[in-house]
Amino acid sequence: MRILAVSGSLRESSYNTSLLRAAVEAAPDAVEVELWEGLGELPLYDEDLEADPPESVRRLREDWAAADAILFSTPEYNGSVPGGLKNAIDWASRPRLEAALRNKTVAVVGASTGQFGALWAQQDLKRILGVAGARVVGTEIPVPRAHEQFDLEGRLLDGEIFEQLRLHLTTLASEAVAVPERVAA
Ligand SMILES: Cc1cc2nc3c(=O)[nH]c(=O)nc-3n(C[C@H](O)[C@H](O)[C@H](O)COP(=O)(O)O)c2cc1C
Repeated sequence: MRILAVSGSLRESSYNTSLLRAAVEAAPDAVEVELWEGLGELPLYDEDLEADPPESVRRLREDWAAADAILFSTPEYNGSVPGGLKNAIDWASRPRLEAALRNKTVAVVGASTGQFGALWAQQDLKRILGVAGARVVGTEIPVPRAHEQFDLEGRLLDGEIFEQLRLHLTTLASEAVAVPERVAA
């Protein structure tokens, strides 16, 4: 079982990327979590490029389609999902019938320096992923005051959040296994 981990932040010291590194450690037995990089290389979505897209978009589509499931970690920008993450999802939602996100089992987590832990962004992200054709499982995992949750090396300090991540991954993996053959991506 291979779960791809996609951070919505491009920032070198991103708390969301750190949260996904913690998810790599929290993965239950027989589940491998792998960080995906490539968000920053994508051009802005352009329907004219869809039939013959640039290499960065091809890689996105291949990598996301090949994963058994995807875990997204989103920051919150002005009350919602960062534009770069939305852009990647738009690319991965087309062409509709063969889209990388079609019937893909996905879950979300999120961290912000605010007191609500990117809750609005996670709620929006779940809705966007559902509209894009993905199977969204699990609830949100808000990580508030993210600047206090990681040490200087970016390691997650809170054992409770670590356990929530493990549970989230367990749910995601079991839901991905349960996808019927005929609708599997
Ligand atoms: C453009 C912008 C808008 C932001 N808007 C919000 C917001 O609406 N709510 C919030 O909790 N934090 C907001 N923040 C703060 C982010 O939560 C904080 O920068 C966080 O560390 C970003 O995630 P990262 O560490 O993964 O890059 C905003 C930050 C930026 C740069």
